Amino acid sequence: MESLKMPLFFSSLFSILIVSNTVDTITKTHSITGSNTIVSSGGSFEMGFFSPGSSQNQYLGIWYKNIPVRTVVWVANREIPLLSSSSVGSSSILTIINSGILALVNGTGSVIWSPNMTGSTRDPVAQLMESGNLVVRDANDISGHFLWQSFDYPCDTLLPGMKLGKNFVTGLERHLSSWKSSDDPAPGDYTYRCDPQGYPQNILSSGSAEVFRTGPWNGIGFSGRPSLKSNSIYAFELVYTKEEVYYDYKLLSSVVSRLSLNQTGVVQRWNWIDRTQQWVRVLTSPTDNCDSYKLCGPNGNCIVGNNPVCGCLSKFVPQNQREWENGDWSTGCVRRTPLDCPNGDGFVKYSGYKMPDTRNSWFDRNMTLRECEMVCLKNCSCMAYANLDIRRGGSGCLLWFGELIDMRELNTNEQDVYIRMASSELEDSTAHSKKREIVAVTLALLTGVLLLGMSLIVYLRKRKRKNSQLNKEGILMHKSEQGYTDKTQKEDLELPLFDLTVIADSTNNFSINNKLGEGGFGPVYKGTLEGGQEIAVKRLSKNSGQGLDEFKNEVICIAKLQHRNLVKLLGCCIQGEEMMLIYEYMPNKSLDYFIFDQSQNTLLDWSKRFHIINGIARGLLYLHQDSRLRIIHRDLKASNILLDIDMNPKISDFGIARSFGGNETEANTNRVIGTYGYMSPEYAIDGLFSVKSDVFSFGVLVLEIVSGKKNKGFYHPGHYHNLLGHAWRLYEEGKSLELIDEALWDSCYQIEMLRSIHVGLLCVQESPKDRPSMSSVVLMLGSETALPQAKQPGFFTARNVLQTGSSSSKEATTTGNEITSTMLSAR
Ligand SMILES: *[C@@H]1O[C@H](CO)[C@@H](O)[C@H](O)[C@H]1NC(C)=O
Ligand SMILES: *[C@@H]1O[C@H](CO)[C@@H](O)[C@H](O)[C@H]1NC(C)=O
Ligand SMILES: *[C@@H]1O[C@H](CO)[C@@H](O)[C@H](O)[C@H]1NC(C)=O
Ligand SMILES: *[C@@H]1O[C@H](CO)[C@@H](O)[C@H](O)[C@H]1NC(C)=O
Ligand SMILES: *[C@@H]1O[C@H](CO)[C@@H](O)[C@H](O)[C@H]1NC(C)=O
Repeated sequence: MESLKMPLFFSSLFSILIVSNTVDTITKTHSITGSNTIVSSGGSFEMGFFSPGSSQNQYLGIWYKNIPVRTVVWVANREIPLLSSSSVGSSSILTIINSGILALVNGTGSVIWSPNMTGSTRDPVAQLMESGNLVVRDANDISGHFLWQSFDYPCDTLLPGMKLGKNFVTGLERHLSSWKSSDDPAPGDYTYRCDPQGYPQNILSSGSAEVFRTGPWNGIGFSGRPSLKSNSIYAFELVYTKEEVYYDYKLLSSVVSRLSLNQTGVVQRWNWIDRTQQWVRVLTSPTDNCDSYKLCGPNGNCIVGNNPVCGCLSKFVPQNQREWENGDWSTGCVRRTPLDCPNGDGFVKYSGYKMPDTRNSWFDRNMTLRECEMVCLKNCSCMAYANLDIRRGGSGCLLWFGELIDMRELNTNEQDVYIRMASSELEDSTAHSKKREIVAVTLALLTGVLLLGMSLIVYLRKRKRKNSQLNKEGILMHKSEQGYTDKTQKEDLELPLFDLTVIADSTNNFSINNKLGEGGFGPVYKGTLEGGQEIAVKRLSKNSGQGLDEFKNEVICIAKLQHRNLVKLLGCCIQGEEMMLIYEYMPNKSLDYFIFDQSQNTLLDWSKRFHIINGIARGLLYLHQDSRLRIIHRDLKASNILLDIDMNPKISDFGIARSFGGNETEANTNRVIGTYGYMSPEYAIDGLFSVKSDVFSFGVLVLEIVSGKKNKGFYHPGHYHNLLGHAWRLYEEGKSLELIDEALWDSCYQIEMLRSIHVGLLCVQESPKDRPSMSSVVLMLGSETALPQAKQPGFFTARNVLQTGSSSSKEATTTGNEITSTMLSAR
């Protein structure tokens, strides 16, 4: 940076000799006192005592010598003024005192200010350089080594050659700090610094609160200041090495330019115009409303000129709609389709934005954009990536972790950012991978339809013998459901086909020891593939009439769905009479195994349960709203929630799920299938199902998870209510805490527990239209906003399904096992 060159040194000696009262150096014999000053060798800067504004206090400062508007660029004793008194000025002195240090001494001999030197010398001199830098060095050292320099301690002005930033070796951090007022140069509220955290960007703060950031350096300028480029007057740069990081600039012409931070927190660049003898402001930051740090919250997007200015980035929705509409954007936005890491997220390109806050980022200068994507994809907390440097077509890699903060739309596009999205949000998300092993299953499904036809005949014949009345309805039912499946079937389903021998080998030939249980349409086996991958194999029972239908339904539904809270279908096996579905194996069985069991329930503490509740909610939200098929599950219950090794919940069993079209929100069926205790009244009684009947089941599930009690078969000595009624009673009496499973009680989580109960009760309200949608549920669980009062639940007395249901309804089949569905004929 600054170096003391021989000619300069001699020229300053020379000027001392010629003009005796304009020296640039303070020595043991030459001090500054009274109205004496020192002037830099070329006459640019002057140092002496001054009183700012209307203040009577005196300070020692440096200002431009040739600029008639007194512009102080640096103050020595910012915080300790020399008090006003007629005689003080003349008696204060900046001098080298006998111990060999530069000191500002007041009228009564106290040292008011003294630089903190990095070394000592017996013969120091202080020199005001042409750059405006006051340096202290050994009188005989002309190597350019300074013991101290004022450029290391900026005040409110950044002069050319000053570094705004941090030296990692010495720890020295240089930043601007505003004056308190125009009368008081003491440090005020505002600071402007080059923040090296993550990847460097300049940040303006008020106290500890960020006010504005420039955005990260992109090789040419700051991402949030695209219009600001090096120009004919000055050139700026950001230097970032192992040793230090700093922003600086240099002047390219004779025009004087400076950067300063004013008392109300505005960073401004000023150019001195000789002709008019004025400072002209050429730049201010922040510029507009959208420069306000984090104005639109996480994942928000600020658009100047819009009213309101805040919106969400595309494919994002407000985290809290109500607050958002009221102009409180602080909670920001969330993805409309939750991520599904690590099972196939991707990235969507966003162009023309200020890069998000890089304080939680990581970078590599050598990686390509492609490598950058791969690294980001692998880490589930990596939310976005971009090229680090936009020059020469782009290079390097910048990754963001956590939420994307403080983005805004710009009117230029220099740097694209790629934001992580669920696979269903990607523009062309056809599965390119796995092509080799994947066989279009359409053919198999056609076979399936044939089989279905055949088995339907067999099935109906069997039924006819058993129950002629149901038989007739059975035909009606199949006709309507057929129409629906045909519609869906036209889409190409790509699903790996497994060979029967592979599956037989993996399950020890369907050994009884490998049997995990009984699923909706047949037994489920655990298998281990040759590579060691564990699988669950659901085998269609040959004698299951309902099974083929459900099998097909499950394939159609789940093959197209991908979400971290849905069980993943790996493939199927259709060979001869055998039809099987192959899933990822869930080592921790299902939720009912833990929450209803006295010996297992302590394994799921509250934070795990809350995680499970949230996971189920997100999975269900995906089914209802975000998946391409839009699906109503219809049989949500504890035994259909599987748990992976980390106790992440996965919704399973899509045997009776139904897809619904764009505007369709409810449908009617004359075949009510579901499970007692989880079915909503309108579904159980009238066969009406909608997303809101799933919401009801979800509510039941939440109350079961919190209480550790089954809704069905709930018994309380004091009343005839089921779990829903019991929970509601306690809620009405303000005693909701009594509902909580004792194995679970932890007062730290009281608020989350109460909130979960409240949300559960909102979900089981009698009228479907009162129940929240799953997107509201997800928001309610994740925020701390006030919740509406819950109304009376549907089905809150024990056993009133059949009482209020209908006298004509009767249980048609019960396949015995808890896991299987119960079927009701409702007409
Ligand atoms: C000099 O500074 C000392 C210590 O701050 C103070 O007590 C004294 O009054 C000052 N003298 C003058 C003349 O301001
Ligand atoms: C002077 O330097 C020392 C050591 O680097 C440091 O601890 C001290 O805080 C500094 N004092 C001032 C006033 O900067
Ligand atoms: C700081 O700069 C802004 C923008 O130019 C201006 O509006 C404000 O009045 C300035 N503050 C002071 C105290 O001069
Ligand atoms: C990046 O590439 C440069 C030039 O090819 C090389 O000198 C440097 O060591 C590389 N840095 C890293 C971290 O690999
Ligand atoms: C993902 O990145 C974060 C931040 O660098 C790191 O703390 C975490 O360990 C990474 N996770 C994995 C699985 O690599």
